[in-house]
Amino acid sequence: MNVGGQHFRTIWLKPEDDRIVQLIDQRFLPHQFIVEEVTTVAGMAAAIREMHVRGAGLIGAAAGYGMYLAALESAATGSFEGELQRAAAQLRATRPTAVNLAWAIERQLRAMGESQGELAKVAIALQTARAIAEEDAEHCRRIGEHGLDLIREIARRKGGQPVNVLTHCNAGWLAFVDHGSATAPIYAAHDAGLPVHVWVDETRPRNQGSKLTAWELGEHGVPHTVIADNTGGHLMQRGEVDLVLVGTDRTTYTGDVANKIGTYLKALAAKDNEVPFYVALPSSSFDWKMRDGLKEIPIEERGSDEVKHADGWAEGRHVEVRVTPEASDAANYGFDVTPRRLVSGLITERGVCAADERSILALFPEHAP
Ligand code: MRU
Repeated sequence: MNVGGQHFRTIWLKPEDDRIVQLIDQRFLPHQFIVEEVTTVAGMAAAIREMHVRGAGLIGAAAGYGMYLAALESAATGSFEGELQRAAAQLRATRPTAVNLAWAIERQLRAMGESQGELAKVAIALQTARAIAEEDAEHCRRIGEHGLDLIREIARRKGGQPVNVLTHCNAGWLAFVDHGSATAPIYAAHDAGLPVHVWVDETRPRNQGSKLTAWELGEHGVPHTVIADNTGGHLMQRGEVDLVLVGTDRTTYTGDVANKIGTYLKALAAKDNEVPFYVALPSSSFDWKMRDGLKEIPIEERGSDEVKHADGWAEGRHVEVRVTPEASDAANYGFDVTPRRLVSGLITERGVCAADERSILALFPEHAP
């Protein structure tokens, strides 16, 4: 997507040296646009763990490039297989909820396992990292096409009045390689001239909504309003939300959806107010093994400091302040699971389907048991 008129992806190989991965360090957005260079597996693991990069698709792409860096490092050690497995474990341990992480690592291990010789393994790792990133961007583009039909239909019913979409967290291009999942239909609608307005949940504690989604919508010229996290239910009761559109970090093949903490409450409010609740995802975010999302999806718990503090920009620098009493404990659950019965539909690169096993496997028959 464009930043100040220049096209950027979230992660790419340095044009002059393909042993260096470049990525947008999202910790400083929207105040500073910083490109970081990563040259080691340890560096990539830190970038994922500390959330320089975040969001399901981008975590997958970063892991893909991380495994390429692992191949380069392993080739220099003389014990390729052992080093590669160690690097895979290091990357796997960074964040637990987004399934794209393990998916990309396994894909790289499989690809390298099928080729002989260290040079060939490095070459295939490079090719696979590029393929993972390209597919992510292309799948999100197609999600935009399929989701556009949904927004177009609502716009038709509203007779030219703006379509109000509520979104949670950041499932925008910053959470993928390009386009985003939940934002792709919004960008497609805006680009097609449909009137669309987005309610942006701020998404405490890290504020991916107010910092990242608001920034990228603004860069694209999409009208939007940032709201405090608990506002969505009120807006739905007043008829001011036509569609809830969110992303996901892991969706079971039966249709249970893990997404940023607070998503479940939006889904409950949407059900109570008969507002359609859609989830946009590339197939890399399906978990083809898990059946029961509530019981099986691992939910990340992060440090309590993220809840106890708020951060922002003051007088030209980044500042952090405590917002709780010093002695109070805080809990920081990163994600929740929305059961399939609350989900109106899933928007994938192959089309829109119901959030149930039969419909999902009808779109992706290669994953049928
Ligand atoms: O903790 P994050 O920022 O990596 O969380 C991911 C998210 O931004 C959301 O959960 C998003 O809605 C789904 S990821 C496309």
